[in-house]
Amino acid sequence: MTDKKIMLTGFRPTGKLHLGHLHGNIVNMIKYQEQYENYFFLVDWHALSTEYQNPQNIKNNLIECVIDLVALGINPQITHLYRQSDIIEIPELTLYLSMITPLSWLERCPTYKEQIKELNSKDLSTLGFLSYPVLMAADILIVNADIVPVGEDQLPHLELTREIARRFNSLYGEYFKEPKELLSKATRVIGTDGRKMSKSYNNAIFLSDDYNTIKSKIRQMITDPERIHPTDPGHPEICNVFSFYKLYKDNNIKEIENRCKEGKIGCIKCKDEISEIIYESLKDFQLRRKEIVKNMDNIYKILENGKEHVRKIASKTIKEVREKIGID
Ligand code: TRP
Repeated sequence: MTDKKIMLTGFRPTGKLHLGHLHGNIVNMIKYQEQYENYFFLVDWHALSTEYQNPQNIKNNLIECVIDLVALGINPQITHLYRQSDIIEIPELTLYLSMITPLSWLERCPTYKEQIKELNSKDLSTLGFLSYPVLMAADILIVNADIVPVGEDQLPHLELTREIARRFNSLYGEYFKEPKELLSKATRVIGTDGRKMSKSYNNAIFLSDDYNTIKSKIRQMITDPERIHPTDPGHPEICNVFSFYKLYKDNNIKEIENRCKEGKIGCIKCKDEISEIIYESLKDFQLRRKEIVKNMDNIYKILENGKEHVRKIASKTIKEVREKIGID
């Protein structure tokens, strides 16, 4: 055991990873890996809450995600990587938390209302979907995490986790910590059509894309509609391509901004340049991934180790929670 603070995040295994995933919670998990004790897990039960009618891809997607995460630099020696569904103590904690969570907290949750509207091709009027945040609270509280790297869209869930923890503590005595969020610099990565980057919008640049694919995707992006000739002054603040420069070239962003404003570089050249920068940043990852898949046993072993470690902590939590409630 260490006295390092605990950092934890969960990840929906929805398929091939793209830049939006990378610059969301993954960058922070990698950046602070040495500083904290880390828990990084794939939330297949959460995936089931929206995919229960077609669950057949969840398992495969999960394994693909683990390979991606390891290839990106999540180090299984210092980060516990695991499958949510391997930790059977999580549903028991979910049950206790659901006893004390008022329905109104869940019904008023903005992500709940939004998703019901957005994912209208799916029937989400289920108990499991309504209680999505309770399951997430259990994920976090089962290891009593201090810090949770998330995207902005997850803030309401984290607030609910704190409210549930507080309620538990006030009913049964001080036990859970109130976890804090860690937001990434890019809380929202724009896709090639200007909307939030998402596989379902067909606007994503995948970590596995080769240079030509990235180049042709970026070439299609709208820059500054008023700019016709390469020498016209541009407006980086409204340009979607510029938002990628902010992600990748933050330290000389002024220079990049000025050359556009002063009409010193045309949009096509500017686009090809950022395509190359993005591709270069992914090249090592792509090579490492190829190596990793040659020995899949390692990947299964990583998940096995993760499970073993986390279940130890989780069963201790459950034991103590039972005692606190008085049903031990
Ligand atoms: N709900 C999160 C998402 O959709 C995933 C998630 C589940 C999570 N459990 C978590 C994130 C616990 C952080 C901590 O992205």
